[in-house]
Amino acid sequence: MPRASALAALVAVLLLLAHGCGGETHKVGGVDAWAVPPAYKPDVYLRWTRSIHLKLGDSLMFLYPPGQDDAVQVTARAIASCNVSAPLRRLADGNSVFNLSAPGRAYYTSTVPGHCQKGQRLSLDVPTANGTYLPPTADDLVAIAAIAKVPPAAQPTKPLPTLASMDDDEDSAAADRAGAVAVLAAAAALSFALLVFVDT
Ligand SMILES: *[C@@H]1O[C@H](CO)[C@@H](O)[C@H](O)[C@H]1NC(C)=O
Ligand SMILES: *[C@@H]1O[C@H](CO)[C@@H](O)[C@H](O)[C@H]1NC(C)=O
Ligand SMILES: *[C@@H]1O[C@H](CO)[C@@H](O)[C@H](O)[C@H]1NC(C)=O
Repeated sequence: MPRASALAALVAVLLLLAHGCGGETHKVGGVDAWAVPPAYKPDVYLRWTRSIHLKLGDSLMFLYPPGQDDAVQVTARAIASCNVSAPLRRLADGNSVFNLSAPGRAYYTSTVPGHCQKGQRLSLDVPTANGTYLPPTADDLVAIAAIAKVPPAAQPTKPLPTLASMDDDEDSAAADRAGAVAVLAAAAALSFALLVFVDT
């Protein structure tokens, strides 16, 4: 095989590998932990959901002090009324990852009494594999309207613990890009080594 095409083939394979490493993980709330929104940031989850770009197969990561909170996926009906008695899925380990494996609306909140009512809840619209969105159901429309109402900041809350060591979405995208560049650099070095080996 001529050198140039060997190199091109290798680079193409490595590019595919770098690209096909599964979905992106979005840390819920950006730099803030998963908690009741503080009085000075009552719409933190609304703004966060507007700021991210989801794909089918991505995942969500909820970070919080275990034992003080949890993360649950619930139905549209349940979130509209903050009825958390029968979640679809509950994780409580403090580092909870939910896979967005089905297109359509997905709803998340906490089962700690009062937390949903105080705005610790969110709604996400997961696109189909081809990037189109499913039309909302009647229950979805009710739930979306309920979530869009930011609760009045009833009492001053202490600031959310900041997860300084955690990357926000933008940083992790930058890290992904840096990772891809590193893979390509390694590919180039490997190709060069192979070519030198073949030549000698
Ligand atoms: C809450 O949801 C559960 C399970 O869906 C249901 O049985 C219960 O009646 C609901 N409670 C209220 C107050 O609507
Ligand atoms: C999410 O997907 C990952 C990787 O595919 C898998 O290891 C994990 O068990 C899944 N988690 C859930 C809650 O389904
Ligand atoms: C995208 O996928 C959905 C569901 O998989 C399908 O109903 C829809 O027709 C597709 N749209 C296009 C433009 O391919």
